Amino acid sequence: MPKSLKKIGVMTSGGDAPGMNAAIRSVVRACAFHKITCVGIYRGYQGLIEGDMEELNARSVKNIINRGGTFLKSARSKDFRTKEGRKKAYDHLVNNEIDALVLIGGDGTFTGGMIFNQEFGFPVIGIPGTIDNDIYGTNFTLGYDTALNTVVDAIDRIRDTASSHDRLFFIEVMGRDAGHIALNAGVGAGAEEILIPEENLGFDRLMESLKRSRKSGKTSSIVVVAEGDKTGENVFELAQKVESEMPFYDIRVTVLGHVQRGGTPTCFDRVLASRMGVKAVETLMDGQSNLMVGIKNDKINLTPLDKAVKGKTEINKELIRVSEIMTT
Ligand code: F6P
Repeated sequence: MPKSLKKIGVMTSGGDAPGMNAAIRSVVRACAFHKITCVGIYRGYQGLIEGDMEELNARSVKNIINRGGTFLKSARSKDFRTKEGRKKAYDHLVNNEIDALVLIGGDGTFTGGMIFNQEFGFPVIGIPGTIDNDIYGTNFTLGYDTALNTVVDAIDRIRDTASSHDRLFFIEVMGRDAGHIALNAGVGAGAEEILIPEENLGFDRLMESLKRSRKSGKTSSIVVVAEGDKTGENVFELAQKVESEMPFYDIRVTVLGHVQRGGTPTCFDRVLASRMGVKAVETLMDGQSNLMVGIKNDKINLTPLDKAVKGKTEINKELIRVSEIMTT
């Protein structure tokens, strides 16, 4: 262990995700196990700039493994984008004798961490926490599995009412510019069509597919639309366009929104968070930093932060094909 590593700070930043609490708990307990002091920083980079932090011990994180959200709270800090903001953050770290930071968040969080590391040489390590699953270097981000289950559950409920009224539903799901939630939850919930930004199905093909569905005897349908998809201006405009070409359809739109970000983390996310937290602390103890902890083929791995931020995640082509076959 490098001589200097006596105190580690941990924070959550960007959009919250189920499993973040489990990751904080893991970092705190791994620190306690290795006799390192752990400091929780509230409200992400904004809290760091304001010096909003407190020491956490193993008992401070009791009964949180099962809770959604993040008890350290999260924020998207504008001040941290400025040099003055980052200097204030650095001064608080020095004054509080913190030697390294564990950052739990998405690409915005990691970009901030990288810049901070370049400017001050301060050791940082990332844990990917976002429901979008859009981070390069890991098969899964924390919160993604929970969000998928939430979305599938919501679509199942919508299907009940869609089939009772013979309606066509357009359901918008989150994911920013990525279609992982839409594709996986769409297949899991048996959607008739799935629109994702990575594969432009196009309006005409959507129309053809809906016509085919109707001809084959389907009286109700579910179309899952990723929020980043560009088939329409937005999901409402898209539904209107379809309605004007297919007036016989009784169409409704549901935007699932932030319901996808809340809720009890699944066992998968809790276990992943526990593994990633331990690896983050032990990687810092090895004297390594500027890395992100990830998981590939069930093995915990490390990816340089800049690769994690710049790399593009691939959409699962095999799953696209499966979804096409399933909508026959
Ligand atoms: O990155 C997570 C995410 O939930 C995206 O899926 C979504 O586009 C965005 O955050 C919403 O951000 P906010 O909570 O700031 O509206």
